[in-house]
Amino acid sequence: MFANQLALDATTAQRLIEIALTPVPDLPLHDAILYAAKGGKGLRAFLVLEGARLHDVGDRAGHAAAAIEAMHTYSLVHDDLPVMDDDDLRRGQPTVHRKWDEATAILVGDALHSLAFELVCAPGGGVVDAARAELALTLARAAGAQGMVLGQALDIAAETGPPLDLYQITRLQAGKTGALITWACCAGPRIAQADIGPLQTYGDALGLAFQIADDILDETGDAAAVGKAVGKDAAAGKATFVSLLGLEGAQRRAQDMVDSACDALGPYGSRADTLKDAARFVIARDK
Ligand code: IPE
Ligand code: IPE
Ligand code: MG
Ligand code: MG
Ligand code: MG
Repeated sequence: MFANQLALDATTAQRLIEIALTPVPDLPLHDAILYAAKGGKGLRAFLVLEGARLHDVGDRAGHAAAAIEAMHTYSLVHDDLPVMDDDDLRRGQPTVHRKWDEATAILVGDALHSLAFELVCAPGGGVVDAARAELALTLARAAGAQGMVLGQALDIAAETGPPLDLYQITRLQAGKTGALITWACCAGPRIAQADIGPLQTYGDALGLAFQIADDILDETGDAAAVGKAVGKDAAAGKATFVSLLGLEGAQRRAQDMVDSACDALGPYGSRADTLKDAARFVIARDK
C-alpha cells in the first residue's frame, strides 16, 4: 500500500516538474535539470500528498509536492559539488557536475530552487491565495539560512571543528534534512487552512529518524543499492548520530524518533496508518 503510493506520488511530482520546464535548444541546462530530478524515492512528495489527503485536499497538493521535490533535488545537486561533499554518484548515476560540469550543476540547483517557488506560487489548482502565500513563506524559511542552508553550513563546519554534542548534532540534522521534511508534512494542513500541529510534530521526529537512517546507511549500506557512495562520513569527519552514539545507539534513537512520529498522529486515528507505514519505512529502507 505505502510502497505503491510512494511510487505514484514520486511520478506525479516528476511529471509536474517536467511540464513546468521549457527546453532551450543547444544548452545542457534543461536535460541536466530533468536528469537530476529523476530517480529519487519521492518521499517528500508523498508526505505532501498524504498530509493533504488526510485533510481532504489531496487533489490540490500536486504543485506543492513537485515544489518540495525540486527544492530537495537542488539541495542534493549542490551537496554533491566538489566544494561540498565531492560525490560522483547520486541516484545510481553520475552526479550532475560529473556528467556535465560544475557550472551546469550550480545552475541546475539555482533553477530548481527558483522552480520550487514558481510551483508553490502557481495560481489555479484550487489553493487559496492566503495558503499559497503561507506555503511560499514557510518554504523560504525551511530552505534558507534558518533551515536547510543553516544545517548544511553546520555540517561543513563540523568537518574541521571540535566534535559536536547531542544537542548540536540534532540542531544540524533538523536543519539540513528536517526542515524540508517538516515543510512537506505541514503542506496539506496549510492548503486546507487547518492546524499543522500534529503533522509538524510528526515531521520533526520523522526528519531526524530519516537522517539517522541515512547516516547508518553510509556506515553499513551497499553503494549499488543506496545509489550513492557509502563509507564517506567517517572519512570526512562528519558529525552524525553514528559518530556520537555508535551504530546501536543511533539505531535505538532512530526507533525512538519513529515511535514519537507515530504517537503524534493520534488525532487522525486509523486514517494516518499510511503515514505510520512511512515512518517505519524510513528506518527500514536500504536506499
Ligand atoms: C538524501 O535524501 C539526502 C538526505 C537528506 C539525507 P533521499 O534519501 O530522500 O534522496 P532521494 O530523493 O531518494 O534521492
Ligand atoms: C545532505 O545530507 C542533506 C542535504 C542535501 C540538504 P548528506 O550529505 O548526508 O546527504 P547524502 O548522503 O549526500 O545523500
Ligand atoms: Mg552533505
Ligand atoms: Mg552528501
Ligand atoms: Mg548522507
